[in-house]
Amino acid sequence: AVDVSRINAEHGVFTYDPAFTATCSTQSDITYIDGAEGILLYRGYPVDQLAENSSFLEVAYLVLYGELPTTPQLDEFVGAITQHTMLNESLSKFFDGFHYDAHPMAMMTGIVGSLSAFYHDTTDIRDDGHREIFARRMIAKMPTIAAAAYKHSVGQPKMYPRNDLDYTSNFLHMLFAVPAETYEVDPIAAKALDVLFILHADHEQNASTSTVRMAGSTGTNPYAAIASGIAALWGPAHGGANEAVLNMLGEIGDISQVPRYLEKAKDKDDPFRLMGFGHRVYKNFDPRATIIRGYCHEVLQHLGIENHPLFELAMELERIALEDDYFKERKLYPNVDFYSGIIYQALGIPINMFTSMFAIARTVGWAAHWCEMQNDPAMRIARPRQIYTGSPKRSYTPIDQR
Ligand code: ACO
Repeated sequence: AVDVSRINAEHGVFTYDPAFTATCSTQSDITYIDGAEGILLYRGYPVDQLAENSSFLEVAYLVLYGELPTTPQLDEFVGAITQHTMLNESLSKFFDGFHYDAHPMAMMTGIVGSLSAFYHDTTDIRDDGHREIFARRMIAKMPTIAAAAYKHSVGQPKMYPRNDLDYTSNFLHMLFAVPAETYEVDPIAAKALDVLFILHADHEQNASTSTVRMAGSTGTNPYAAIASGIAALWGPAHGGANEAVLNMLGEIGDISQVPRYLEKAKDKDDPFRLMGFGHRVYKNFDPRATIIRGYCHEVLQHLGIENHPLFELAMELERIALEDDYFKERKLYPNVDFYSGIIYQALGIPINMFTSMFAIARTVGWAAHWCEMQNDPAMRIARPRQIYTGSPKRSYTPIDQR
């Protein structure tokens, strides 16, 4: 057994907090969460008010700059984002190096990391202008990169961004349009996606944002720091949950199997968990889930697919789990990714693109946190400690004596 009191006596006080459930790594002005009450505020504004009244780029401005923009400020910001959506042609060629079935998140990690090779001359962390151009470039290029990753995976030509479309509609165009055919963006689809982007824009010190901050604390190139955030987001316990929800629904297969899978989820000897249920911080209903639940039902109705067996299955799972004592006692409610996965599926977005959608939105939070930390006088290289549980000191044994 490790004698923590001896370590503390010798080296100062350490807390042992695996998974950081009780450790604040920073102060931040960006996002406030009250998990018990189910409250989420960006810069003080309730996320439900923003989802109802705002657009994703207006929220991006708020998250980055701390205040809602005036009309000229928003026009300038939207214009700048629109201007930066193109990828350098030689960057586009990077996609050709990936096998056709590479996961889009793998491609995004690589391509965003490679932006650090393109933009190494504007990354002076002390320069406000450099920080701003980084944030704007990242937000602008992320949908283009995500859509290009998808086009590569299906072997279709990449679509150039269209400057006459808003941010979300342009993304849908780059994802679904093909050169020889007319593609009209469905405004209800674009609105639902815009709201989803708003709801995913930031979430304080979640695993991927903490990763961006951890990498950023070393003074690394900010595009490389964002690439590390994309890698952290990919896992099924974090951003990969929306993809895992659809895979789980596929595995359950039929409404008749819902009770059996609920029992599996409760069985501690069974690794199966209900994907899209539960949250580290929200031990009440996830406020984002409340908002997106309404859009989810609206989109299914609009597309006339609410009776599709897959969506009936999802709604039955939601209904039964909400009534089940195991889930009620542990406060395991559907989280935002339960509904986002269903909406993405309804919009025809391929399952392996779901986490990339999350990455597009969360880029705003990653960039805002990276910028904020550069101004923080308390910023030093992040360096957690550990409690050593290995062998005591021993002497080297020559190989012929082992
Ligand atoms: N299905 C079944 N049981 C669950 C689930 C679930 N989805 N989530 C938690 N539990 C149970 C645990 O087994 C544990 O039970 P016990 O007290 O009897 O041992 C209890 O609920 C508490 O769970 P923890 O694992 O301690 O909760 P933690 O905060 O560590 O995990 C997490 C949160 C990772 C989100 C978890 O609920 C989970 O794996 N959910 C499914 C994956 C998912 O949807 N992730 C998305 C998160 S949201 C986001 O990234 C935007």
